[in-house]
Amino acid sequence: MSYQAEYQRSMQDPEGFWRDQAKQLEWYKFPQQILSKDADGIGHWFADGEMNTAYMALDHHVKNGRGNQTAIIYDSPVTNTKAKISYAELTDQVARTAGMLADLGVVKGDRVIIYMPMIPEAVVAMLAVARLGAIHSVVFGGFAPPELAVRIDDATPKVIMTASCGIEVKKVIEYKPLVDKAIELAKHKPQCCVLLQRPQATASMIAGRDHDWASLLAKAKPIGCTPVKGSDPLYILYTSGTTGKPKGVVRENGGHAVALNYSMKAIYNVEAGDVFWAASDVGWVVGHSYIVYGPLLHGCTTIVYEGKPIMTPDAGALWRIISEYKVKSFFTAPTAFRAVKKEDPEALLMKPYDLSCLQVIFSAGERLDPPTQEWLTDKSGKTVVDHWWQTETGWGITANLWGVEPKPVKLGSSTLPTPGFDVRILDENGKQLARNEQGYIAIKLPLPPSCMNRVWGDDNKFRDSYLQFLPGYYTTGDGGYIDDEGYVFVMGRVDDVINVAGHRLSTGEIEEVVAGHPAVAECAVIARDDELKGQIPMGLVVLKSGVSVDETQLGQELVKRIRDNIGAIACYKDTVILKRLPKTRSGKTLRKTLNGIVNGKPYNVPSTIDDPGVINEIIETLRGKKMIGELKEKTRYSM
Ligand code: COA
Ligand code: AMP
Repeated sequence: MSYQAEYQRSMQDPEGFWRDQAKQLEWYKFPQQILSKDADGIGHWFADGEMNTAYMALDHHVKNGRGNQTAIIYDSPVTNTKAKISYAELTDQVARTAGMLADLGVVKGDRVIIYMPMIPEAVVAMLAVARLGAIHSVVFGGFAPPELAVRIDDATPKVIMTASCGIEVKKVIEYKPLVDKAIELAKHKPQCCVLLQRPQATASMIAGRDHDWASLLAKAKPIGCTPVKGSDPLYILYTSGTTGKPKGVVRENGGHAVALNYSMKAIYNVEAGDVFWAASDVGWVVGHSYIVYGPLLHGCTTIVYEGKPIMTPDAGALWRIISEYKVKSFFTAPTAFRAVKKEDPEALLMKPYDLSCLQVIFSAGERLDPPTQEWLTDKSGKTVVDHWWQTETGWGITANLWGVEPKPVKLGSSTLPTPGFDVRILDENGKQLARNEQGYIAIKLPLPPSCMNRVWGDDNKFRDSYLQFLPGYYTTGDGGYIDDEGYVFVMGRVDDVINVAGHRLSTGEIEEVVAGHPAVAECAVIARDDELKGQIPMGLVVLKSGVSVDETQLGQELVKRIRDNIGAIACYKDTVILKRLPKTRSGKTLRKTLNGIVNGKPYNVPSTIDDPGVINEIIETLRGKKMIGELKEKTRYSM
């Protein structure tokens, strides 16, 4: 099958195409409705199908003779642990954990927040919630209590599942005080917390609210799967948008299972029994889709890695795992490759390992910059494929379909639209732009299976945030172009989303925290290009009149504020005090102009600027502090 034939069929006969893909899974009742709209006009895939995602990912494989195959490899250099869990063992653990949650009163449709480090129990917790037909919301362990509190109030969970600690290289991060603080801050109070005590830290328990995971589990009985509809939510995953408040992306069971199972072969070219590794965290969409659900739905072996690409113990960590477990398809974020390249530029730590098992290296989460792609291709001798996706879609919008027809790699491009995604480049009036012209990247409706169709708790937000700007299209928030051969080049966000080490954050949210400092009158938080992490936030602040503070001290206080309110992962470092910010006559801060100045990129000064003199004033201040970057890539895009 050629890529063109596969893609064209998905465009011309989407329902036939996805019906065929749905047949690859074991439903309780096969859907009659393939793509439908409900009374509110919301599109659903496989709405009337009956299924359970955990059944498809576990019991189905045990029933079909994969019980003894390894489902999860747990490799934790930070605790010196290695373990393997078979499909049969995982099914049993999940069934018992589901029994434990049922004993606590969790039923279909209830929400359960999971705030855990990269340990197998995090995966077990997700699948146990899915087994009950309940809805999980995993919160990345690097988020601070106020961020967790916002998610608790929005998802209103019955139960929070957590662990006593996570381990960041050598630092033990106690999770329980963070959870306690978040519950204190939140208006919604969950009925209870289930806490997994790890040997590295013992958490104190609040009587009447907190339960010990191991003791409850010991008493729990395994429980069967609760059937759900294809359109019932499997999970809510919060992601940053342009406003301060994160959006709860709702993922439905049916479309999610079908799209992910399809992608495992079509994009990553793996079969049941192969070892697939996505080096990410279950707190992110990559972790949901390609540490947990994709590989397990497809009958693969997945790896839960509690470590970093460097420092645990060195920049050979990724290559060790690939070789030790015979990984066939590997996937991580460009930041990880840049970190390895920085530590080990000659890739000497790759040499001891036999990587012959590895077919392709996939990258996503942020744009794979051509120098890193070239370095990795050269050192590994493997094809390095960039693919582009978002929390909202749950899988690749563009990719090189390695299991259909591999296409030549073009540096800087995430290759071609994935079947189901009708990718267009539009101007702000919705006019389609010519090949090679840069504009907004949009997807013509309907979206394929797995893509979000609503924001949790807010019926209008999906339409308002994603569909209104360009009618008939889903706006991705990214800008870029399509070349003469149809290759898509995603060049960066066109909104206030910032991507720090593959982690998505909102500059608006960081601004709210900076602006809350008593000395700050107003501020603009700008995404500054960073050699390692892609982007890092930088605060440009104007002090309240009459206030005088030392810039270094203010900077340190703001770092603490961001760490306490958002989390260390925001990597906030630099603060510069300015006399004033550039504004339009109507008072709008010229963030795009500031972004251009800070990153040494071309920028526009609009004619509506209040006082053009402010631009030179800011350039001088930033130059004096060596805070102006260089334009590294001629093609770098800014809208
Ligand atoms: N729980 C608690 N804290 C966490 C955390 C977690 N799960 N993950 C990160 N943090 C903390 C780190 O300890 C660090 O804190 P510090 O400033 O006190 O040292 C901070 O958040 C920043 O972490 P990180 O972005 O991981 O930076 P780093 O300098 O520790 O490591 C890299 C650099 C490149 C190794 C790391 O960023 C990395 O592995 N990147 C790949 C990211 C990735 O896989 N993304 C996948 C998304 S698809
Ligand atoms: P997230 O929702 O956290 O997965 O972040 C999604 C955003 O990350 C996208 O909208 C892009 O801005 C960026 N992104 C992810 N993958 C790529 C890629 N391969 N190329 C360019 N940008 C990417």
